[in-house]
Amino acid sequence: MSDPILVAVAWPYANAEIHVGNLTGSHLPADIFARYQRMKGRQVLMVSGSDSHGTPITVRADAEKTTPLAVYQRYHEGFLDLFQKLGIDYDLFTSTHTQNHVEISQKIFLALKKNNFLYKESQKQWYSPKQEKFLPDRYVEGTCYICGYTNARSDQCDKCGNLLDPEKLLEPRSKIDGSTPELRETEHYFLDLSRLQNQVVEFLKGREGYWRPNVMRQSLGQISADSLHGRSITRDLDWGIPLPKEVLAEGKEWESKRLYVWFEAVIGYLSATVEWAQVSGNAESWREWWQNLDAKTFHFIGKDNIPFHSVIWPAELIGVGDAFDAMMGSKDPKPLILPYDVPANEFMNLEGQKISGSRHWAVWANDFLTRYDPDPLRYYLTVNMPESKDTDWDWDDFYHRNNDELVATWGNLANRVLAFAYKHWEGHVPEPGELTPMDTDLLNEINDGFKTVGTEIEAVHLRAALAEVMRLASEVNKYLDQTAPWQAVKTDKAAAGRAIYTAIQAIDSLKIMFAPFLPFTSEKLNHILGYEGSLFGTQYVETVTDGLGEHRVLRYNGTQAAGTWAPGGIKAGAVFNQPEPLFKKLDIKIVEEERSKLGVPPQG
Ligand code: MF3
Ligand code: ZN
Repeated sequence: MSDPILVAVAWPYANAEIHVGNLTGSHLPADIFARYQRMKGRQVLMVSGSDSHGTPITVRADAEKTTPLAVYQRYHEGFLDLFQKLGIDYDLFTSTHTQNHVEISQKIFLALKKNNFLYKESQKQWYSPKQEKFLPDRYVEGTCYICGYTNARSDQCDKCGNLLDPEKLLEPRSKIDGSTPELRETEHYFLDLSRLQNQVVEFLKGREGYWRPNVMRQSLGQISADSLHGRSITRDLDWGIPLPKEVLAEGKEWESKRLYVWFEAVIGYLSATVEWAQVSGNAESWREWWQNLDAKTFHFIGKDNIPFHSVIWPAELIGVGDAFDAMMGSKDPKPLILPYDVPANEFMNLEGQKISGSRHWAVWANDFLTRYDPDPLRYYLTVNMPESKDTDWDWDDFYHRNNDELVATWGNLANRVLAFAYKHWEGHVPEPGELTPMDTDLLNEINDGFKTVGTEIEAVHLRAALAEVMRLASEVNKYLDQTAPWQAVKTDKAAAGRAIYTAIQAIDSLKIMFAPFLPFTSEKLNHILGYEGSLFGTQYVETVTDGLGEHRVLRYNGTQAAGTWAPGGIKAGAVFNQPEPLFKKLDIKIVEEERSKLGVPPQG
């Protein structure tokens, strides 16, 4: 078995629907990468879940006059629905509101405490005299003390990307009522990052050379701009993970505090692996991804999440050492491995402006899928993926990419070749006779694609990978222009048959190379080509009951993909099914229709 790969995807806050920017930022690149790795026969696990705690959820619950639990459950259900429709094939998509996650998070806390990386300290926290309560960091905004941005949140600046020390915020104001908060004392637990700093820097240096430059720059920059010091990991809140009973015994005041949402959410990568192992029947198998030195963890996230994944989470992992495993009952406890890569994406804007739910400036994924198919969405979001700089969703561009590339270059190629063969060779792959150098040149070039495209995907250069597959499809179109079987069939049926045989071979292979990107249409084409079975497994929702109640998870079942990343090899004489178009041509009028919906609250 090859080295295990953990595809760890940022946990979406269960307080808003998922839009195209979220998809292209994390879920879609992760899915493409995971599908490819499965096709290579590697031991892949792709996990994530709803980030269901913390103030993002309570803010929404307050606004809707409902409970945080109801908010989380509603959005979580929408995520499960979306990922099935869009084929984001999570092995497990769970949530942070599970008994398992609570227990694992508390164990990580206790392991850090045992290793002396936690300390208690009274902290000044923004307090609202008007509301008579402590304000969570998110409820306080003001001016960033690093870059001067005037709309910084007290814990993080969206302009310069730095994590902030909330109490150093300049010109603070309460997000609830605009009033000016004051600093008051409250006791919290802190993660002693200063004592982990050297090891974090060493970890980052060890990743130099292959990390995206921007991710490395931001991670090291975070440490030098603000050399690591203790960060509080508890909050005055009532929604979230309670402190372990050992801490509750220290005094009554701890009952009204919870673990900080970022401290526990990143632990989700580990707890979801443990949950997956339990439901998959081998409870110990989580160790394959967390203790095996040959395993590799890839974190698919957006750029606003970089410091949490490249600094804070590695610091937590370093700090627990082997103490976590000891708490898991291991006789020979081992430490946990650190992230291998954090291929964070930049942002996708929409028609030149920042995506914003509150301004209705967004393309919501579930809504999009009521009008369009999933693969065109996956295609557009991949060719436009913000891998190295911000990109823009533009409806006119979407229309052209769909019609001029997906339909014209790939869909029509498959359709016209198969329709032609269906008609003239009665639904059989023609006998080729002896191939000419031109035929073998084409097939060699296509076969080489498995290597070149695969290399790009492994480096998480997904745009380049897809561009290469599309280029190979254009090569087949050029080949057909030159061999013109549509003409040749009238005068030299053998030559026409040879060209069509060659083109079908190429299409059969392109189907495989397109599959991580366009799984639905590749599956359809696979069926048209007469193959039994499917390229990928299937997803399903399961309801689980634990100490916190019922919760719904998305699971994946399938070993189908294993080993399929290789040239197709359909045989001469093979019978295939009546072809139908893979993609729909769009009408230009959708561009104006879609644009006119932007910035307008949805009807009904
Ligand atoms: N919920 C966070 C966001 O949407 C991401 C959390 S990633 C995690 O920005 F790993 F911490 F869960
Ligand atoms: Zn700033």
